Amino acid sequence: SQFILLSPPIWRTCMCQMTDLLFTEKDLVTSLKDYIQAEERKLEQVKQWAEKLDSLTSIATQDPEGFLGHPVNAFKLMKRLNTEWGDLENLVLKDMSDGFISNLTIQRQHFPSDEDQTGAAKALLRLQDTYQLDTQSISTGDLPGCTLTVEDCFELGRIAYSESDYRHTEVWMAQALKQLDEGEESSVEPVMVLDYLSYSVYQQGELERALDFTRRLLELDPEHQRANGNLKYFEYQLAKQRKAGEDLRYRRSEGAEPEREESEGRKGVKKDNLPEKKKYEQLCRGEGIKMTPRRQSRLFCRYYDNNQHPRYLLGPVKQEDEWDRPYIIRYHDIISEWEIEKVKELAKPRLRRATVHDPQTGQLTTAQYRVSKSAWLTANEHSVVDHINQRIEDLTGLDVQTAEELQVANYGVGGQYEPHFDFGRKDEPDAFKELGTGNRIATWLFYMSDVAAGGATVFPEVGAVVRPIKGTAVFWYNLLPSGEGDYSTRHAACPVLVGNKWVSNKWIHEHGQEFRRRCGLHEMD
Ligand code: OGA
Ligand code: FE2
Repeated sequence: SQFILLSPPIWRTCMCQMTDLLFTEKDLVTSLKDYIQAEERKLEQVKQWAEKLDSLTSIATQDPEGFLGHPVNAFKLMKRLNTEWGDLENLVLKDMSDGFISNLTIQRQHFPSDEDQTGAAKALLRLQDTYQLDTQSISTGDLPGCTLTVEDCFELGRIAYSESDYRHTEVWMAQALKQLDEGEESSVEPVMVLDYLSYSVYQQGELERALDFTRRLLELDPEHQRANGNLKYFEYQLAKQRKAGEDLRYRRSEGAEPEREESEGRKGVKKDNLPEKKKYEQLCRGEGIKMTPRRQSRLFCRYYDNNQHPRYLLGPVKQEDEWDRPYIIRYHDIISEWEIEKVKELAKPRLRRATVHDPQTGQLTTAQYRVSKSAWLTANEHSVVDHINQRIEDLTGLDVQTAEELQVANYGVGGQYEPHFDFGRKDEPDAFKELGTGNRIATWLFYMSDVAAGGATVFPEVGAVVRPIKGTAVFWYNLLPSGEGDYSTRHAACPVLVGNKWVSNKWIHEHGQEFRRRCGLHEMD
């Protein structure tokens, strides 16, 4: 809907808005407690009234005539009936919830929507895949401070189901069932869980297990209509399958060629031919890094002053080779704590969902493969930006006049940027044409936070992983000296698993570098 386009779901937005929500929730709890107290005070008053009247009426009814023979009693009865019961009525009808309800109504405007909730669940399922997290440890709190209830597991399973993701439906429903079996109190009926379970394993072709779950369901609810139908259907399918199996065995014993297992071809696939997405996920988990000890031994750390650059002569910086081909270099302690805080402070109010170039139209749009928020900072808005830009120029020796503005990006949990090139390809509508400064010759990337888990920058073509370390920066050339794109620089930002990632990019362009980085004599590709 239009609303969704205008307002990106909260889970993808920056952590600062999520922390606001935590404080809002805390205020609401206080308001709720105030309401409970007011309600308790009211009930206390009502109780006192009831007790007083209880003893009064029992005395009065023991000897009604004697009681009313006393003029004071007669007067008080009139008064009670005429006014006091009316007061009590008002008291009982009095709504103590006004304050709380109006607080809630106001705050609810900023609450996440169904879209957000589904989005957060999908992010969790995606993280589970990328990092191969097992369901049990997610649910029972291996990620610090979080445990999932039966309802939570059930909800995750249902969302997976609505996405036709039956593998995740199965694992989450199985987890819900396990927690129920272990005696966890829940409003979720085991019958519902079993219903999803049998269907999801059936969808994955496991008839026998589907049958087992269906039988278990029917023990709990023998009248369950769908389950009774499924029972018959699964039994029929299974019988058919078994018969087909017997026929095949019979034919084989007669000398027929055994049929080739379908999966055999897949097993033969070499690791190197893995689809890029798989390589990316592997590297994100820290697996499949391709660096031989021999190559490793040629990577060094050094103090660097860029040929006695006056600004670095007295305090050279720590430079470390991160990778050889493409050459990726890391600078340590290259941006101070204070600078980081200042840059974040400047960027925060302007962070917007990051956009990408649509390869068809060349226009900017948002995409699921790039989930982060970003903002651009210009050199004239604060000296800190100017200093940072200058530092990049001094250390790389490249002209930053033609570079793009400093981009600040924030990735929340699940935030990622799938494999891409930073440079524009020849076959694309020229994304950087408007700038008139040529292609993105090099990338400078500051890490402005540590990330508790996930969030590495990975290069799937070459099997490189660069971990975010607060206060460091990495630098690489995207273009070969010939000006051709270097396809080995294809890279990605892994999804953040726990924590929150801040980076800042400077994309340096070709123009202005003619005498700084010498052109190659011939194309190298
Ligand atoms: C980018 C990018 C990597 C990272 O923004 O182009 O590749 O680790 N970022 O954030
Ligand atoms: Fe990039």
